[in-house]
Amino acid sequence: MNDFLSKLYRYSPLSRRKRVEQYLNKDDTKRSLMPEIVLDDVIGDTLIENYLTYFRLPVGIVPNIRIDDDVFNFTLAVEETSILAALNATAKYFRTHGSISSTESSDFIEGQISYEKNALGVKCLLSHQKQCELILRSKYPTYFERDNPVFNLSKKITEDFVIYSVEINSGDAMGANLVTQFCESISRYLSENEQFPKPVMNIVSNSLKKSNIKITCELMIEEELGKRIELASKLAKQDPARASTHNKGILNAIDPIVIATGNDWRAINANLHSWAARSGDYSSLSSWEYKNHKLFGVMEIPLQLGVIGGATKIHPDAKFCLNLMGVKSKSDLKKVIACAGLLQNFAALKALVSEGIVSGHMKLHLKNIVKSVKMRDRNNEDKLINELESFLVRNKKITNTDAKNIIEQLDL
Ligand code: MEV
Repeated sequence: MNDFLSKLYRYSPLSRRKRVEQYLNKDDTKRSLMPEIVLDDVIGDTLIENYLTYFRLPVGIVPNIRIDDDVFNFTLAVEETSILAALNATAKYFRTHGSISSTESSDFIEGQISYEKNALGVKCLLSHQKQCELILRSKYPTYFERDNPVFNLSKKITEDFVIYSVEINSGDAMGANLVTQFCESISRYLSENEQFPKPVMNIVSNSLKKSNIKITCELMIEEELGKRIELASKLAKQDPARASTHNKGILNAIDPIVIATGNDWRAINANLHSWAARSGDYSSLSSWEYKNHKLFGVMEIPLQLGVIGGATKIHPDAKFCLNLMGVKSKSDLKKVIACAGLLQNFAALKALVSEGIVSGHMKLHLKNIVKSVKMRDRNNEDKLINELESFLVRNKKITNTDAKNIIEQLDL
């Protein structure tokens, strides 16, 4: 456990940032640790068209998570109050009672060249694989100069289409643009030189059907709780409606890290949902089993992301977050993201099968309620929070109307 990053919740935001700066001890991160948003118009205008301003999300940290032999700090950009609190509590639990490990299989990204069956006739792209590779070699020499460049073609046929899949490995970049360029180059060459028709489209696929990161964890846990978490896991396996909420809990940690690192969260979400539905029925992404006095969790998923390219190296906050996380490669980032998803899932299931999420969730939400209701005197906010806490304990529920009633009764 790094001392600068331990018990950060005890400090004010200012002292917390100072401690993170001391931990990082690097000047170039200071800019991103400033409380005020620095509107960098040059970057905003580079990233999108009609750029106006930035949307602010709080960025928080869950420090010191050991995965295999490495220690990472999870950095999340998110608005949902309970996520960081739940993940920090779970991380603490795992630090003392558990362990986390990862295995990764080969990383690749796929593009699709799709033809209308009728227009294509008997022509087959697979019999032109060698020429296609030569074209790509001449256009993208650096891709083929690296270690073990992958270039695989395969074919599938649907009712009206013949779809060729182009598989490549993109190193530390996500590779979506590269594989789409490969598809376009191939189909252009074939229509200009081999009388192939114009394809319907050339585009990356956001549905990787092979997993590439697997996180397993084990935890000493009380038997009754362990067995109830196993039951919750079974429930999500058997009911797609529950699986969707279960997976939303996993995405509660995945998306914020994907966002904080400047990655394409839409691609990740599209891929994870299609992965969850790969058997034909939508199911849960993770599994939990209690045996021999331990709880075992596992999640094996594809993750399409990068640590170079896109916004990851342009956006100063993404650069800062990657640096603070201790992530040095795409492989590290996948471990971190999948692990955060599994731990967040544990936190949700633990709460759901024991006390339920309302009391914990609403307790954290009280500050938001206080900020959103009208008060006569804002100096009475602490008093209102105390009153709302007691109300919540008594009634096991709290709404804005309850808060308004209390303000009225006590003239706050
Ligand atoms: C809420 O943001 C996430 C949960 O609904 C996840 C779950 O039900 O597993 C608590």
